[in-house]
Amino acid sequence: MTPTPPASPPPGVAPGLRRTLVLVGIMGAGKSSVGQVLAERLGVPFTDSDHEIEAAAGMSVQEIFQRFGEPYFRAGETRVVDRLLSGSPRILATGGGAFIQAPTRAVIREKGVSLWLRAGLDVVFERIKGKPGRPLLAGADPRGALARLMAVRDPIYAEADIVVDSLGGEGHQAAADRILAHLAARDATLAPVARLLKEKDEQ
Ligand code: S3P
Repeated sequence: MTPTPPASPPPGVAPGLRRTLVLVGIMGAGKSSVGQVLAERLGVPFTDSDHEIEAAAGMSVQEIFQRFGEPYFRAGETRVVDRLLSGSPRILATGGGAFIQAPTRAVIREKGVSLWLRAGLDVVFERIKGKPGRPLLAGADPRGALARLMAVRDPIYAEADIVVDSLGGEGHQAAADRILAHLAARDATLAPVARLLKEKDEQ
């Protein structure tokens, strides 16, 4: 059997990044799963900011919310995102509230390139319903809570540098390929991602 060649980025997408590509968007949009595939394809490390926060705190996100409250979690989130963005370029998946917080958004703007994985309510609710561990959806009406969060947050996510839809029924590999194709297409149309990363770097 012929060995499968390593996955490589499509033409037009730089093999590697000058800046960290930060995935933002609502819970269930697929930031972590798709981010891991993107990182593999681009040959760069992947980090999930929630996992970093949990490692630093020695407890789960849910436990941090329960014991110390959301403002404490958000302060830690800003510090962790800032630290990660000061390190080597990578794919960084953030928790759904990170980009909504002005200080965290400012750090992402300054040091990274943001990509909103935009998803509809039905798609995200289908993915996350019945799964524990999300304190903001812990009440009696998680779908309503999600809808209210999205109504407030979507206009802020829309401030991201790049917007790509997260489609229902699509696997992570396919979504990552579509995102890479979208990034590559910017080469011919809008600013290419490589140039966007470089321009931000030179500012
Ligand atoms: C949150 C999303 C979660 C986690 C925390 C708060 C939010 O991350 O950071 O529960 O405010 O939307 P995911 O988006 O990875 O679920």
